[in-house]
Amino acid sequence: MADNLRFRAVMSGKALASQRWAHWHEGVHARYRQLTTEWGMKFFAFQTQRDENYAMQVKLARHGLAPKAKCKFSFKYGDRRFYGFLTEVVEVMEKLRWEEKRRYFNGGDKSHELSEVMQQAKKVLGCNVYDMHSGNYGLLRGKVVLIDFSTMTDELYRRGVCTAEHR
Ligand SMILES: Nc1ncnc2c1ncn2[C@@H]1O[C@H](COP(=O)(O)OP(=O)(O)OP(=O)(O)O)[C@@H](O)[C@H]1O
Ligand SMILES: [Mg+2]
Repeated sequence: MADNLRFRAVMSGKALASQRWAHWHEGVHARYRQLTTEWGMKFFAFQTQRDENYAMQVKLARHGLAPKAKCKFSFKYGDRRFYGFLTEVVEVMEKLRWEEKRRYFNGGDKSHELSEVMQQAKKVLGCNVYDMHSGNYGLLRGKVVLIDFSTMTDELYRRGVCTAEHR
């Protein structure tokens, strides 16, 4: 099963990489595609970026704060290599219906959930947790989870504290 998913991830990755990466130079880090109802894949342009994102996601997933991640892979497209992993599919907040979404925004009956998850994630990761716009968190089995750690990994690089402890 994992091999089959890995194969599908690589094929999807190559297909995506062949499309113009319009945002590539605009600071967006990852590309994502859903593969099955449960699993999707995301990939990055740099191995370190993938490794740090993967490490953070695995750490947080152990505490139920992120989707599970597994099965790192890489593939070549043209003269470049891209680096990815499999991730559980999340209902991303920005894609939810407004009636549901508004419950998680300021003043909604569930608006505290995101800040609680961010607080817990801060403790687990030992760094600030930010850039949580509605494309960077969502619902998994009815619980708020975080899906994008690139801004945090960038900060760790700037601070020079990207170490094996995050791997
Ligand atoms: N596990 C997931 N489940 C469902 N959709 C996802 C998942 N991970 C990523 N996505 C989708 O792919 C988009 C891009 O992924 P992600 O936020 O990790 O990349 P990014 O390039 O770092 O984003 P940003 O634009 O915030 O810098 C997300 O906004 C979301 O729509
Ligand atoms: Mg994002």
